[in-house]
Amino acid sequence: MKKLIIGNWKMYPAGVKEAREKFVAIKKVAGTLKNVQTVVCPPFVFVGDLKKLATGHRCVLGAQNAWIENDGAYTGEVSPAMLSSMGLDYVIIGHSERRVLGETNELVNKKVIAGIKAGLTVVLCVGERERDTDGEYMKYIANQIRLALVGVSKKDLSNVIIAYEPIWAVGKNSIHPATTNDALEVTILVKKTLAYLYGKDVGTVPILYGGSVDAKNCAEFLAKSHVDGLLVGRSSLDATIFGEILKSAEKVK
Ligand code: PGA
Repeated sequence: MKKLIIGNWKMYPAGVKEAREKFVAIKKVAGTLKNVQTVVCPPFVFVGDLKKLATGHRCVLGAQNAWIENDGAYTGEVSPAMLSSMGLDYVIIGHSERRVLGETNELVNKKVIAGIKAGLTVVLCVGERERDTDGEYMKYIANQIRLALVGVSKKDLSNVIIAYEPIWAVGKNSIHPATTNDALEVTILVKKTLAYLYGKDVGTVPILYGGSVDAKNCAEFLAKSHVDGLLVGRSSLDATIFGEILKSAEKVK
């Protein structure tokens, strides 16, 4: 399976010209890599423009969020059907930076279902705020997965990717990066939780790690944490660093 490297641009860059330049530079590297699927998730407003540049299949676009309905009086929201009509394949759902704005597990669940129905591949983000010594965080993550997947059939799971992003390791205020072991532990937990919910023959649901991924640690996470890819924030905004990450991923067996 190809390594899946997703860049989450969050609310950057400041303007469309910069977005174009970054995307073109990333695509240049991504286009040379056979073993990596690159996905860039820019702010919604840049999607139309970048889509014109996103020719080919090795570097595609995704979205950072979508609403639970395909149309209606929802000022400021963007529907999954709109994203799919723009030719997008992926949507990030339940990112911790949205959960702090009030996105509940119930809303995340509705978004997951709406995304799948619109034909998008949903990148479901889960992760604990802090780690305790009693393993409560494991229950917390398993519960987030369970609640996000209520009403999602085994067949629909083929449109789901799970990204483990421990909040304490995400963003510039992160306490410290996660270790490859921290990520491995949760990779196993995600697999067990899915097997518990859907049966042993659940099939392959790709698992990503995200949180302070950079050009130095990316290969280690891919090689040692048994993840299928990475969700990259800050380091995806620097085309040179993101390019390094993509090239490292290409080499990991
Ligand atoms: P970071 O963000 O790589 O900047 O820690 C990851 C994310 O929020 O997806």
